[in-house]
Amino acid sequence: MSTTPESTPGTPGTPEQQVPVRPQTGTDAAASPAEAEAKATFEATGVDVVGLNKSFGDNHVLRGIDLQVAPGEVVCLIGPSGSGKSTLLRCVNLLEVPDSGTVTVGGFEVTDPDVDLDTMRRHVGMVFQQFNLFPHLTVLENCTIAQRKVLNRSQAEAEQVARTNLERVGLSEMETRYPDQLSGGQQQRVAIARALSMDPQLMLFDEPTSALDPETVGEVLSVMRRLAKVGMTMLVVTHEMGFAREVADRVVFMDGGVVVEEGPAAQVIGDPQQERTQDFLARVLHPTDIDL
Ligand SMILES: Nc1ncnc2c1ncn2[C@@H]1O[C@H](COP(=O)(O)OP(=O)(O)O)[C@@H](O)[C@H]1O
Ligand SMILES: [Mg+2]
Repeated sequence: MSTTPESTPGTPGTPEQQVPVRPQTGTDAAASPAEAEAKATFEATGVDVVGLNKSFGDNHVLRGIDLQVAPGEVVCLIGPSGSGKSTLLRCVNLLEVPDSGTVTVGGFEVTDPDVDLDTMRRHVGMVFQQFNLFPHLTVLENCTIAQRKVLNRSQAEAEQVARTNLERVGLSEMETRYPDQLSGGQQQRVAIARALSMDPQLMLFDEPTSALDPETVGEVLSVMRRLAKVGMTMLVVTHEMGFAREVADRVVFMDGGVVVEEGPAAQVIGDPQQERTQDFLARVLHPTDIDL
C-alpha cells in the first residue's frame, strides 16, 4: 500500500475532529469563512418526485412515490430495511431508471429520455454507506479526479476547490493521506468533500453513518448539520433519529414502497400517527424492549 513520508495511521478522536461545526453565537454573522463561502456558492435546488414506480422483476419496490424537497430543505427518509429507500434515492439521480413517474431536479426533468445524464449527475452529489474512495489515491486526489475528468477543470483549480471542501469537512491536514490511513468517519468526510467539489445543487445521503464505528458517527453528522445550515438541499436516508429530529425540516416514513407518513420531524418522530410508523420507531428508539 502506498504511503507518504509524513503520514501516520489516523486515530479516532484526533484534534482535527474537534473543529467547531456550528457558529458559536447561534447567529449566521458568526459563521466561519468556510461557511460564508459555502453560502455564496451553493445554488440549492429542489426535487419533485411524482408517481414513481420501480420493480425488479416481479418485486414492485416503489409503488407510486410522491415526494417534494424544496430548495435548501433537509428531508430525512426513514423506514425499515427493504422498504425502497435506497432505490428511491438511486432513482433521483438515475442510478436506477424508474418504470413510471417523473423526477424533476431544479426544474429539469431527469426522467425525460432526452436528458443529458452527465449534466444532471453533476448537480446531484451522492454519499453512500460504504465511502467508495479510491484506495490508491490520496485524499486530495480523491477530491480532484472527477473535477478533472468530468468538469475539465485545471489541476490548480481542482486542487483549490478540493482544499476549500476539505477545510469545510475539517480535514485540511489530511490531504496527503491515503484512505486506509484514516478512520471511517474521516473517510466519510472525504467522500462528502469529494461530492461537494463537483458543486452539487442537491446532496443525497444513503445511510452515511451506518458503517461507522460509534465514536466517529458524530463527526460525520456534524459536517452534515453544517451543510444543512448553509442551505444545501439534502435528502438523507438515516436511522439517526436524534439527527433527524434536530436537523431535518421534514421526515418521511416509507414502508413497503409507499410513503406512509410525513411531516415536521418533531411530529413524525415524537408523535407518529400511523401504526406502522409507531411500530418502526418503537423498534428503532427502544431496541432492547423487543420481546423475541
Ligand atoms: N438492483 C436490484 N436488483 C434487484 N432487486 C433489488 C435491487 N435493488 C434493490 N432491490 C430490492 O428492492 C427492495 C428495496 O431495496 P432497497 O431500496 O435497497 O431498500 P432499503 O434501502 O429501504 O433497505 C428489496 O427487496 C431489494 O432486495
Ligand atoms: Mg438502503
